[in-house]
Amino acid sequence: MTPMRTDLAYAEALDAADPLAPFRQHFSFPDPALIYLDGNSLGRLPAASPALSRHIVEHTWGDRLIRSWNEGWFDLPERIGAKIARLIGADADEVIVADSTSVNLFKLAVAALRQQAGRTRILTDDLNFPSDLYILQGAIDLLGRGHRLEVVPSPDGIHGPVDGLTAALDADTALLTLSHTVFKSSYTYDMAQITQRAHAAGALMLWDLSHSTGSVPVDLHAAGADLAIGCGYKYLNGGPGAPAFLYIRRDLQEALHNPISGWMGQANLFAFGLDYTPAPGLRRFLTGTPPVLSLALLETGVDVLLEAGMPALRAKSVQQTSYLIDLWEAHLAPLGYALNSPRDPQQRGSHISLGHPEGLRIARTLIDELNVLPDFRAPDNIRLGIAPLYNTFADIHTAVQRMAQVVAERLYERQPKSAAVVT
Ligand SMILES: Cc1ncc(COP(=O)(O)O)c(C=O)c1O
Repeated sequence: MTPMRTDLAYAEALDAADPLAPFRQHFSFPDPALIYLDGNSLGRLPAASPALSRHIVEHTWGDRLIRSWNEGWFDLPERIGAKIARLIGADADEVIVADSTSVNLFKLAVAALRQQAGRTRILTDDLNFPSDLYILQGAIDLLGRGHRLEVVPSPDGIHGPVDGLTAALDADTALLTLSHTVFKSSYTYDMAQITQRAHAAGALMLWDLSHSTGSVPVDLHAAGADLAIGCGYKYLNGGPGAPAFLYIRRDLQEALHNPISGWMGQANLFAFGLDYTPAPGLRRFLTGTPPVLSLALLETGVDVLLEAGMPALRAKSVQQTSYLIDLWEAHLAPLGYALNSPRDPQQRGSHISLGHPEGLRIARTLIDELNVLPDFRAPDNIRLGIAPLYNTFADIHTAVQRMAQVVAERLYERQPKSAAVVT
């Protein structure tokens, strides 16, 4: 008998037919029963990373010591940047790994605002990651040139305010910066459309790719994007605090100046000249010594993604998020869960937010009692991050069954109302 779409057997049949299923072996599963749905926040440990970190510590640091800088460490930011470039439609010399996403945003935003002298408006939306807004506020304060940050509201808290942004763009707009895939609802902008509209107004366009890289196909060249940043510890599986990356379109690189000009971005750093001369190309956007251990570990995660390929990953991501939405409709909507992500797969990334008035206590119950690990974003979003490299259809089915159980059996009532923070 053919299983119903809502049966576990159906999920297992999808897993059996999944061409990416073998990629699970590239990750570590110390607790095989744990259903991990937070790869959009901290990706799983790649199976190759423990041996690599031991090699770096014991051999390249312990044995080779300072010689390792000339034996590969020095070039790591460019070498791994070149690999990330292949995931986001950029050329090898347009992406470099450096610092954190926040610091990279600061560098690129300040550089862009200086380049756009005479224009004073910075546009973003209220779905953007709040830290991005804090960084922009700090940049405005530091520059002291009367810039204003304007936050265009989403029409419904889920979809990006495309019309509002389009209407707001004008000849005084210096910079438009948005998260390509937004952290709460998972809404994904049409990058080419928005970039083209920013350019039509003479604004520079800066994309935060943190929730897109490794989950949503990104083609920065096709979109004509100017600038981008993104983080290394989500779908890139680089590990906690993995360094981030930045992208600058090649023809802009020499025109932009790194506001945190340090010796790693100096043209001839070992000449130790007393005046700063920026290195050619993207190296000028480096600042200080990179964190070699976590930088090197980023490569294992990126290599697995490159091997799987973005088209196959995206196909599975869409199939899995659509499957999750089908199950939500059948099992969770009747229990008061709301879909807080777009229904149109073209407009969403690889996580799904489900809202519930008891969202926080439900999330805590799933984590503490039912071995399902999502995260929670106020006011009521349980975020279910699906990483197609290692999440199965059976994971999704079981997680939905347990989310239904928590509400049907009122298991969440055992949790205190002011439960500890869920990251
Ligand atoms: C969309 C987005 N931008 C920026 C950040 C901040 O990144 P970082 O802590 O590397 O500065 C995050 C962190 O989760 C994020 O999700």
